[in-house]
Amino acid sequence: MSTLTNLDLQNIPRHVAFIMDGNGRWAKNKGQHRLFGHAAGVESVKEVIKTARELGVAYLTMYAFSTENWARPSDEVEGLMNLLVDAIANEVDEMHANGVRLLTIGDIKGLPGNCYQSLLEAMERTKDNTALTLVLALNYSARKEILNAAIATHKKLLSGELSLDDINDTEFSKLLDTKDIPDPELLVRTSGECRISNFLLWQLSYTELLFTDTHWPDFRRKAFIDAIAAYQKRERRFGMVSEQIQTTK
Ligand code: IPE
Ligand code: IPE
Ligand code: MG
Repeated sequence: MSTLTNLDLQNIPRHVAFIMDGNGRWAKNKGQHRLFGHAAGVESVKEVIKTARELGVAYLTMYAFSTENWARPSDEVEGLMNLLVDAIANEVDEMHANGVRLLTIGDIKGLPGNCYQSLLEAMERTKDNTALTLVLALNYSARKEILNAAIATHKKLLSGELSLDDINDTEFSKLLDTKDIPDPELLVRTSGECRISNFLLWQLSYTELLFTDTHWPDFRRKAFIDAIAAYQKRERRFGMVSEQIQTTK
């Protein structure tokens, strides 16, 4: 518990996004099937949610399945979908009791019917909760999200609902899946890869990026606290110079 003393509790990121990578390698290192790694990864998700509540992080976004992940072997895809359904069934009561609201980004209609239904039910049940918002990115592609928003903008122009002068960052953001969700202050990608893999391309414009070698199943409370401590050492300049930032503090 002592690691909390390293943190400035006045500077906790409001929204942390995770690219949960490395489940497969973690399992392989143990001589196990990749799905064993994904199941262990669910435990990390639970611990990160718990730690976020403890620290006062208000939004968590977890990249759980990309549109590109459909290209994986079918038994792995099926296993991941089953894990999702099981995790929701097992965890929704506790999440609800703890004030967690579930949201999704991505095309969840493209998921197997039982996944889609259980997500809809969990979202409906938890929709009024306010302690923490958990956003699961499922069947998600940042490029598709942006293209869809561009198409929606075009339609609004054609119908006269918007004029060209109305179009700006704020209005465009309202047409993304992440409308109503603030941009993340911090993105963590586990397992050593330093890439974004089609995740939140619009929303990460000024996010602090943190890449750690830890595989996702090993990313637990201490790793999360260490990530926030590293974030707190950064100076977020937003295009300004250091002296300007110092005087606004
Ligand atoms: C992340 O772990 C989980 C998903 C993409 C669903 P990986 O399955 O990508 O693990 P590695 O990268 O193969 O180790
Ligand atoms: C990114 O991980 C997607 C998720 C974490 C769901 P991948 O393991 O699929 O990413 P790449 O393909 O190695 O970039
Ligand atoms: Mg991977």
